[in-house]
Amino acid sequence: MNAAMDPSGNENPLEPRIVVLISGTGSNLKALIESTRAPGHPGRIVAVGANRPEAGGLGVAEQAGIETFVIDHTTYKDRASFDAELLRKLEALNPDAIVLAGFMRILTPDFVRHFRGKLINVHPSLLPKYQGLKTHQRALDAGDAVHGTSIHFVTEELDGGPIIAQAEVPVLDNDTPETLAARVKAREHVLYPIILRWFCEGRIALGNDEVLFDGAPIPQVLSLPADAYQ
Ligand code: GRF
Repeated sequence: MNAAMDPSGNENPLEPRIVVLISGTGSNLKALIESTRAPGHPGRIVAVGANRPEAGGLGVAEQAGIETFVIDHTTYKDRASFDAELLRKLEALNPDAIVLAGFMRILTPDFVRHFRGKLINVHPSLLPKYQGLKTHQRALDAGDAVHGTSIHFVTEELDGGPIIAQAEVPVLDNDTPETLAARVKAREHVLYPIILRWFCEGRIALGNDEVLFDGAPIPQVLSLPADAYQ
């Protein structure tokens, strides 16, 4: 982790610096803010960025007194120029962790390589199933009995980086994409903060092409006991 300098000089310079990127409502962001503020948490969310000025999560961050920034992708001529600006902004923030929490932009390979090992994403399916969009609808259409969410390192392969952890939810007979999404998010709000905490503690890291936990490759994707979600 960085020994990050803080311009105000009054924060712990050894605290891992977290930047969260969002595009939407920010319910995961809210859970991450609350958890990082618990006593003893090693990390600190230093900024929240969005690619959409109307992202509801910006208000969540502002209410929590966290710096926000918007880089509106619609004002950039192409993906590469948007990513170059995002990279420049992130570099200035000197992050140890870049946490994608409902950030709905595909990042260029150059960007992803630059921040290798620091970029983490939450994807609402049991990867490798249902990469991409409309995951809840696709799980319903397929008649799946079980659905869920995955937290993974971001690599150049879209939704294809090494999976750190997963949580399952049952699919119920009368589920709609919305009810299923809500059940999945409830899991994310517990799992994502724990994974981020372990990452900030240096327990989770990206190896060559695998996830390391306490320095050793994980034999299987991490999961929490059921009572962690109660
Ligand atoms: C989450 O379900 C996450 O898995 C997906 O986008 C959703 C973001 O929700 N990538 P929120 O903005 O955190 O409420």
